[in-house]
Amino acid sequence: MTDNFIQSKIIDDVTAPQLAKAEAVASLHQKNGVTPKYFIQTFGCQQNEADSERLAGLCTMMGYEPASSPAEAKLILCNTCAVREHAEKKALSIIGQYKHIKDADPSVIIGVGGCMVTQQARADKLKMSYPYVSFTFDTGAIHTVPTLVYEALTGGKRRFVLSDEWKISEGLPITRSSRHQAWLSIMYGCNNFCSYCIVPYVRGRERSRKAEDIIEEARQLIAGGAKDITLLGQNVNSYKGGDGCDIAELMHRICALDGDFRLRFMTSHPKDASDRLIEAMASEEKIVKHFHLPVQSGSDRILAEMNRKYTRDSYLEKIAKLKAAVPDVSITSDIIVGFPGETDEDFEDTLSMMSEVRYDMVFSFIYSPRSGTPAAKMENQIPREVSSARMERLLALGDGISKERNQRFVGRTLRVLVEDVSKYDSTTLTGRGNPVRPIHFKGDKSLIGQFVNVKITGNETFCLNGELV
Ligand code: SAH
Ligand code: SF4
Ligand code: F3S
Repeated sequence: MTDNFIQSKIIDDVTAPQLAKAEAVASLHQKNGVTPKYFIQTFGCQQNEADSERLAGLCTMMGYEPASSPAEAKLILCNTCAVREHAEKKALSIIGQYKHIKDADPSVIIGVGGCMVTQQARADKLKMSYPYVSFTFDTGAIHTVPTLVYEALTGGKRRFVLSDEWKISEGLPITRSSRHQAWLSIMYGCNNFCSYCIVPYVRGRERSRKAEDIIEEARQLIAGGAKDITLLGQNVNSYKGGDGCDIAELMHRICALDGDFRLRFMTSHPKDASDRLIEAMASEEKIVKHFHLPVQSGSDRILAEMNRKYTRDSYLEKIAKLKAAVPDVSITSDIIVGFPGETDEDFEDTLSMMSEVRYDMVFSFIYSPRSGTPAAKMENQIPREVSSARMERLLALGDGISKERNQRFVGRTLRVLVEDVSKYDSTTLTGRGNPVRPIHFKGDKSLIGQFVNVKITGNETFCLNGELV
């Protein structure tokens, strides 16, 4: 097994029979004297990346080795996203390309999971129009993949059912894609039903893992060399880990673990961002001083239509508290442009919000209607040309502010976790400071996974340049 494979000590009743199935698949391969390869294609957010690491863990247990391309693989799993139309189109186009692979080798198994196929209509479409796909698995059914693979290997029927169970399966093995950087899911699902968003429909209701299970996983990750741990959930502020353990308490408990590591969290809903969480960030040295607090719009009218349950003023109040408690904090945001009925005036409110907050970085999206959500049925859908023109203005403003915010680091020495060699130049390393701007500097690749001090010498829009101290 690979050295980045971890098997949890806590295995629940949902997971145990599936792990037995995974071993049964491994014995089938062993009997045939082969070590087949797997390939996982991941779309979407960090939740999906974390799920794909669990899928990789199951593949490892089933006796597969990683392939560097889908063409080499005997098992191809595609983990899809549905947040915008573009994400679904991209996934369908990639899945379309797998047809050639299956034509060349009919023994290849192709499975599709994730948010796109957690909609019955999409699962049905794959069943009807993509006959070479063996099965789909919804976001609550990752743990069932060993059964699905076993059935496909032993001549079972194609399977396209939604389980709709939304259980937590504790104890799935994980094959991590990085040694030093780790995703740690603390909860699943979302209860917020923002009117534009498909996530609550495809990820189910909120359910939190027990604090003890999370802390045990954190301990294992740190022992395995993790230096950068990100707690994941659609709205980590509503985490409820039993005995009154909220996100702030959970982070205090993880920070108390021995080891040199930093702790982050994604994502926070502004209506639930608590004073306790802000205080935890201010007081715990290990918590990265970065708060992603998606505002979506600066207009009260649009915020109400979006069902966001906060106002411009209450959001700004939280920002003021945060800046007062954590003076150097990096604040980032998601913004949607062209929500149904957005007027020029509403859009100006969004721009003025950005100027007021001065975000380190804004992730902006043109509104994409998602079938089944209330906003998709709203009148006054905004024409593409209008949204695109607004987007251009938003990007220009956001980039200017990002660059200006980066300037505050120039001349300072930051503690940086070295992540990788630059894609463009093998003598340059990339890493992240605290706050988390990407930083480029000259150095040897043996430093990857270590903390180093870097003096910042210059800044660009999205990154910083520096020198090893
Ligand atoms: N739970 C996270 C968001 C997950 S989706 C949160 O609430 O912050 C990530 C981002 O995608 C959202 O913040 C939103 O800006 C964007 N998004 C979601 N649905 C969208 C849609 N239908 N069209 C365009 N952008 C969308
Ligand atoms: Fe979607 Fe809103 Fe839930 Fe975020 S909080 S996942 S935007 S419904
Ligand atoms: Fe996409 Fe699902 Fe994440 S819809 S953004 S992969 S939760």
